[in-house]
Amino acid sequence: MGEHITEKAPAKLNLSLDVLGRLEGGYHALRMVMESVSFGDTLEITLRKDGEIRLETGLAWLPRDGRNLAVEAARVFREALGEETLGADILLTKRIPVGAGMGGGSADAAAVLRGLNRLTGRPFNGEKLRELGLAIGSDVPYCVCGGSRLAEGRGEVLSPLPMPPECRVVIAKPSFSISTASLFARIDGRAGRTRPDTAGMIGAMEQGDLGGVARRMFNVFEDVLPRSCRDVGAVRSALLDHGALGAVMTGTGSAVFGLFAGDGEAQKAAVALRSLCRDVTVTEFVGEIEV
Ligand code: C5P
Repeated sequence: MGEHITEKAPAKLNLSLDVLGRLEGGYHALRMVMESVSFGDTLEITLRKDGEIRLETGLAWLPRDGRNLAVEAARVFREALGEETLGADILLTKRIPVGAGMGGGSADAAAVLRGLNRLTGRPFNGEKLRELGLAIGSDVPYCVCGGSRLAEGRGEVLSPLPMPPECRVVIAKPSFSISTASLFARIDGRAGRTRPDTAGMIGAMEQGDLGGVARRMFNVFEDVLPRSCRDVGAVRSALLDHGALGAVMTGTGSAVFGLFAGDGEAQKAAVALRSLCRDVTVTEFVGEIEV
């Protein structure tokens, strides 16, 4: 049993996102094709034996109390273990933009669950960690394992998918953020929406057909964005103009990403996108994270 661990927290992207209807408790039934990328945060976690949970981060404006999902995750883990003296020092290197739809807070929470589980001799299996994650947020169960998954229910019903075909991913985040709850409210009032072809997307992934995957990238939230978010459309068009095979907003935004067949095209597009957005990253899809 070690005392210290470094855990990566990969960002997540939605290749497609569908809202199927409403659930109890203010949630919605979703169907999403989720992917992890190599870009993400890093958390250094050190065990404490006095029950204290402390978070340090270079970003002064990030909350360091229970409002930060990394701290909440440590609290949930301590409770599940039933060891009041278990605590942690967490040093968070934040790279995933906040309010981007890239699951940054959820990825950090999942990393804390995995890290504390390892540091305490793996008392919980992956399934239990995902269950603990759901108490923290709807995307946390996915972030516990990451990789290529179909996520249904609130986001916690996870089925493995083949990896998308080899490609480069360019992510660009407009400077504004979008409130998740307000976008869900806007979608409730909209009938007869266009829906993503999720089965077709999965078929294209099975066949290793990058063009087929790219053509089917679709997020129902893009259709209900308020006028103040029209930069999302502008960023998507810019990605396509610079050679992306497909481009879509991830989660409830505001980040948009595009798929490129080669690194050269992706790097060139990233340079061009930087005149529209400060936050531009070139990355790639990665597989499942070991629990
Ligand atoms: O679960 P989480 O706290 O991350 O969800 C944030 C908000 O997103 C919820 O309060 C709800 O408004 C919305 N949401 C939803 N249905 C989901 C997931 C999230 O309506 N499946």
